[in-house]
Amino acid sequence: MVIDIELTLNRFGFGKIAENKFQFLCFRFSKWKIPGKYSISFEINWRVSDMYNQVKQFVEDSFNAGVNEKSMKHFEQTVSWLKRLKPDADEPMLIAAYSHDIARAYRPIDSKTLFQNKEFNDPEVLKDHQEQGAQIMAKFLQDKDYNKESIKRVENMIRHHEEGGDTESDIIMDSDSLSYLEINAKKHIGLVDVWGKGKVERKIDWMFDRISSSKAKELAQPYHEEVKDLLYKQF
Ligand SMILES: [Fe+2]
Ligand SMILES: [Fe+2]
Repeated sequence: MVIDIELTLNRFGFGKIAENKFQFLCFRFSKWKIPGKYSISFEINWRVSDMYNQVKQFVEDSFNAGVNEKSMKHFEQTVSWLKRLKPDADEPMLIAAYSHDIARAYRPIDSKTLFQNKEFNDPEVLKDHQEQGAQIMAKFLQDKDYNKESIKRVENMIRHHEEGGDTESDIIMDSDSLSYLEINAKKHIGLVDVWGKGKVERKIDWMFDRISSSKAKELAQPYHEEVKDLLYKQF
């Protein structure tokens, strides 16, 4: 068998832009300097979507412009736990994990004030938080011409990230709980003077109790115990 290294003279192609998928098919027709020698070949080029990075920037910019404190560490750790629970998580899942709390950036009042007279898992607050987040991210992704099917999945995961209900939303909810117990719970303990010990404790327990998978629960157990100890020692 002879393998020719070609000299390309002509090149025709067509392509399709879609995240992480086949993007460009290029045909070549080549004529060799050697008389009577021609070859036809094709190449496939891949380009990795950078939508996840665009979403990260959008989340950061949104929080910078809002009245609520940035929690980038919480978002990063939600993604990190997602990768631990589901190592093959694809881009829509990573986007949902990073942006699940985007609605908080657009909330006109800060969390300290909002939860002074409400429980953290107040049904109305949760419903609005999930629905607004789903709509904000769907609009952002539509404006960027992101794949429709993926937008639907991101919307669905954000719409159910507090209460779960399907396989993907449950994984985002579990990752959020793990990140909360690892990162945010200590911040909430620091605000016991504002919200009261009982309310902070109920939030910590609720975030632990809602975890759906036994693997995530096992991973969350030491964080849950640690923050409960901290709460009791301090107050
Ligand atoms: Fe949330
Ligand atoms: Fe969260």
